Amino acid sequence: MIYLDNNATTKVDEEVLNAMLPYLKEEYGNPSSTYTIGKKVKEAVNEARDNVARLFNCKSDNIIFTSCGSESNVAAIMNAIRLNPNKKHIITTKVEHASIIETMGYLERKGYEITFLDVDDKGRLDLEELKKEITPDTCLISVMMANNEIGNIYPIKEIAKIAHDNNILMHTDAVQAAGKIKIDINDLNVDMLSISGHKINVPKGIGVLYVKDKRFVPLIFGHQEKNRRGGTENVPYIIGLGKSCEMIVNDNYKKTLEEKELRDYMESEIKKNISDVFIYGDLDNRTPNTSSIAFKGIQADELMNELESRNIFVSTGSACNSELAMPSHVLTACHADLENYSPIRVSLGKYTTKEEIDMFIKTLISIINDRR
Ligand SMILES: Cc1ncc(COP(=O)(O)O)c(C=O)c1O
Repeated sequence: MIYLDNNATTKVDEEVLNAMLPYLKEEYGNPSSTYTIGKKVKEAVNEARDNVARLFNCKSDNIIFTSCGSESNVAAIMNAIRLNPNKKHIITTKVEHASIIETMGYLERKGYEITFLDVDDKGRLDLEELKKEITPDTCLISVMMANNEIGNIYPIKEIAKIAHDNNILMHTDAVQAAGKIKIDINDLNVDMLSISGHKINVPKGIGVLYVKDKRFVPLIFGHQEKNRRGGTENVPYIIGLGKSCEMIVNDNYKKTLEEKELRDYMESEIKKNISDVFIYGDLDNRTPNTSSIAFKGIQADELMNELESRNIFVSTGSACNSELAMPSHVLTACHADLENYSPIRVSLGKYTTKEEIDMFIKTLISIINDRR
């Protein structure tokens, strides 16, 4: 099997799994218990928290463990509106993940005004447009750090500055950026930031919300996570996430450099061997592992199925909406010519090898030659 859909999810790392196993077996104490086996687990949880904070250069105290990236996103938005009960306007973009878009849709139905910023053909934002949309009623700007479909990286530091100059809270969904590009939360100076474990070789079911301010209204009330997120901690998964963050710190993003080289090699070989290829997104400013690539006249879902029949897995958009037979909202926002150029998304991971990429290219060439 050749797995090239790492933006959907990633394989669990062996070291991560091994770090987790004791907490699925013998170390089952509740971190809130005050006796020894609870305390020991609590210490391990806090060590994991330190490792997460080290990767993102922030204080451990500002890290809240959640169940997933979607929960972190929703918690961030709900916190912003609850801290600002008199402000009813939010700015976001047309290319956010469903967990943001759907929450905004719900708030719109509840009487909030939501501005969904446009992007250009390459998926880029216009910060002058953003500034124009700010009103005294704006309580939150939420812009993703990296897009899941086309890989675009957005200028979060600049946007956070614009937000703060106008006394507005800033949230960023960094789920697709974490582990792929360096994130320095102190430098970005955002108020809230979301991360998900299963995009960085940890099992599904663990996320992080970074919150700068002491003032925070939880989504789930309870005493855990310093009263900011109720629910007994998902200890093994927290330990796994801590391990993965520690490994990324130790590797110092060398793996991502390799992924970028492999992705660039793949795109150039494809362009050399196949005519009428189009790559979506901001090509010089993308996550290093992502390629949204289209072949004129070839429908992406058919191509995906043909690749699947040869045991190669790519996607035709984000995994979250590919079950719905709807054109991707991200590509639609980029004014994509989907009739002629419907893209597959190829997303590499830390286990992707050159041999796999060569096999993928060879298979792709043969499928496209047959079809054309
Ligand atoms: C950009 C982005 N945000 C949020 C999420 C949601 O993360 P989770 O699956 O952990 O809820 C995803 C998952 O695909 C994503 O790509």
